[in-house]
Amino acid sequence: MIYKVVRYMNAPALEKPASLVTAFDTADLHALVADLFETMYASHGIGIAAPQVDLGQRITVIDIAKADDDEDAAPEPIILINPEIIKKEGKQTGEEGCLSIPGFREPVSRARNVTVRAQNVKGEWFEIDGEGLLARAFQHEIDHLNGILFISHLSGLKRDLIKRKIRKLIKAGEWE
Ligand code: NI
Repeated sequence: MIYKVVRYMNAPALEKPASLVTAFDTADLHALVADLFETMYASHGIGIAAPQVDLGQRITVIDIAKADDDEDAAPEPIILINPEIIKKEGKQTGEEGCLSIPGFREPVSRARNVTVRAQNVKGEWFEIDGEGLLARAFQHEIDHLNGILFISHLSGLKRDLIKRKIRKLIKAGEWE
C-alpha cells in the first residue's frame, strides 16, 4: 500500500519526536515496513521515516541504490527501527531535499561518516556504518524520528524564506 506523504507545516507528526517501537516481528510491523518501502520507491526517494506518513513510530527505511535514477540498480534496502547514531566523523556539505518539503533543495552540512545502532523487524540489534550519501541519509532520516527537518540545519534567513514560500503555496491550494 502506498501511503500519502505528509508535508511540512500541514502535519504535526513531522515536528515531534516519534515513539519507540516495542512490538517486533508482528504482521503489522512487517506490513508497515513493506508499505514504507513501496511509498518511498513510488516517490523516488532514497529514504522515508514513519512520521512522513503521519505515524509517530521510530522506523525508517533507506535505499540509496537508485539515487542517480538508475532504474536498473539492484535494491539495497535498509530498515532501521529505534535507530541511534553512536559515532560521527568528518564533515560533508551537499544538497538535500525531503519528500515532505518537495521542490526545495538546499546545501546541508552533515557528518561524513556515521555508525548507527538499530533494531531489525525481529527486534535484534545491529550496527551499520555509512559514509557520504548513506551517512547523509542516516542523519536526515533519524532527524525525522526526532521531529527535526533538514531546514532546521539552514540559516534562519533561508528557513524563513522557505516557510514564506510554503505559506504562499498552502494559500494557493498547491501544497497538500
Ligand atoms: Ni525527509
